This record gives sequence, C-alpha cells and structure tokens, in this order.
Amino acid sequence: MTKIETFVKEQANKYGKSRKSLMPILQEIVQKERFLSEEAMIAVAKELDLSTAEVYGTASFYTFLDTVPKGENIIRVCKTIACHMKGKDEIIEAIENTLNIKLGETTSDKKFSLLQANCLGWCHKGPVMLINDKVYPEITASKAIEIVEEYSNKN
Ligand code: FES
Repeated sequence: MTKIETFVKEQANKYGKSRKSLMPILQEIVQKERFLSEEAMIAVAKELDLSTAEVYGTASFYTFLDTVPKGENIIRVCKTIACHMKGKDEIIEAIENTLNIKLGETTSDKKFSLLQANCLGWCHKGPVMLINDKVYPEITASKAIEIVEEYSNKN
C-alpha cells in the first residue's frame, strides 16, 4: 500500500465510507498534500466504492480542492457577479503584472499561484481577494499589489 493509500484508509476509518465522507476526506488530503493528485483520487474512489469520475467531478467542482500542485501562497480573486462589477478584472491584471504570471499559473519560485474563485460570501464588500485563508475585502489594484508584496517579503 502506498503512503497516500494508507492515509486515505485512515481518513475513511475516521469519517466512514459513505458518500458524505467524500468532501471531508478530500479536504484532509488537500490539507496534508497541498493538492489532490490523481493517485489520491483513485485511492479515495476505491476506498469509498465510488467511480473515479465522481471523485474527480466533486474535486473539480470545488475550486478549493486543487487538483494540480500549487504555490506556497494561493491567491484567489472572486469572479462572481458583485465582485466582477466592482472591478475584479483590474485586480487580476495588476497581480498578473506584479507576479509575471497569468491566471491559473504559479510563479517560478513557487511562492504564488493566482486563481479565481466563486463567490466568497463577502459580496457587499467586493472586490474580494483571498490569500490562503485570509480574506481581503474592498481591495483596489494598488492595495492588492501592496498585500501581495508583503507576502513575498515574508519569508
Ligand atoms: S460576489 Fe464576490 S464575494 Fe460574493
């Protein structure tokens, strides 16, 4: 049994093997490994007796469950309507230019990945940016750059 298979088995013992254990188990894997590998998804499917398509479908529906390796800091800009109307495109463009990457990419030093997210529940204070699990409401392009620069000087 591989390391990931053992880990999945442990999680299935902890959460149970029913369909409703799928999300918590996937979240545990992302927390541990930082992303969901194909191997991990196959192991989950086997353990919960689901099809891999079902596991993959769930994982890719939730943008929080990354299916590709990501940078140390994950920047997510809300793309849903309220934030869109308040100028999320400008924010994304400013971050892209600062980090020299495009949406969906990771910087070559693996420090940052830039993604979009569905509504983060802060619509009244848009546009909203999330870095890892910290929410930055009412940001402007220049504020976003400032915050990202703070992170890049952190370690
Ligand atoms: S639309 Fe952006 S947080 Fe809800």
